[in-house]
Amino acid sequence: MTLSPSRRALLAGAAGLAGSALLRPAVAVGPTWPAGWPADWPADPGTAACRAPAAATPPETEGPYFKPGTPLKQDLRADGRGGSLPGRPLDLVGRLQGRDCRPLAGAVVELWHADDGGRYDNSGFTFRGHQLTDGQGRFGFRTVVPGLYPGRTRHLHLILAPARGGDGAAPLTTQLYFPDEPRNARDGLYDPALLLRLERQGDGLLGRYDFVVG
Ligand SMILES: [Fe+2]
Repeated sequence: MTLSPSRRALLAGAAGLAGSALLRPAVAVGPTWPAGWPADWPADPGTAACRAPAAATPPETEGPYFKPGTPLKQDLRADGRGGSLPGRPLDLVGRLQGRDCRPLAGAVVELWHADDGGRYDNSGFTFRGHQLTDGQGRFGFRTVVPGLYPGRTRHLHLILAPARGGDGAAPLTTQLYFPDEPRNARDGLYDPALLLRLERQGDGLLGRYDFVVG
């Protein structure tokens, strides 16, 4: 496989971050779990019933708007001035596990998506950031529901890069989709296996997805 320069840059950064994270105690690998988030949410039914080897999460194209060098950042909707960027709040949480059903700690989870108006920030890092999974393989972002842009349904982009030594699991590039979107059926990349599970959370949404990487 030939890696693009941007992909190599991400993986080089991911390997360094994940490697250093593995030197810490397992419970401190990831970020502090934010107040108000489900501290011990039940495993996804698919995760709970995992039978090794579990089916890997489907890959999808990176698309044209990936940008390496993102900040380690949990709150993508903060505007840096104590407020929030426009858009319906979306908390995105999930777990990573290998095909052997074990959680993957210290993995890099890279997230990028369009803003509320369907625009990508190609000069800065608005709605771009990465997190490290904690000892239970969990990650979480605060962001907003992305807007629509021509030719695509509503979606999020992710790259999940297991830590070095993570049972040989390879990085996964994929996308996540929103249920009940009129454009889903017309988007050639849409895959129902990549649908978020959404629930209302105040004025916003809590979206969950558990990944199997390997
Ligand atoms: Fe996109």
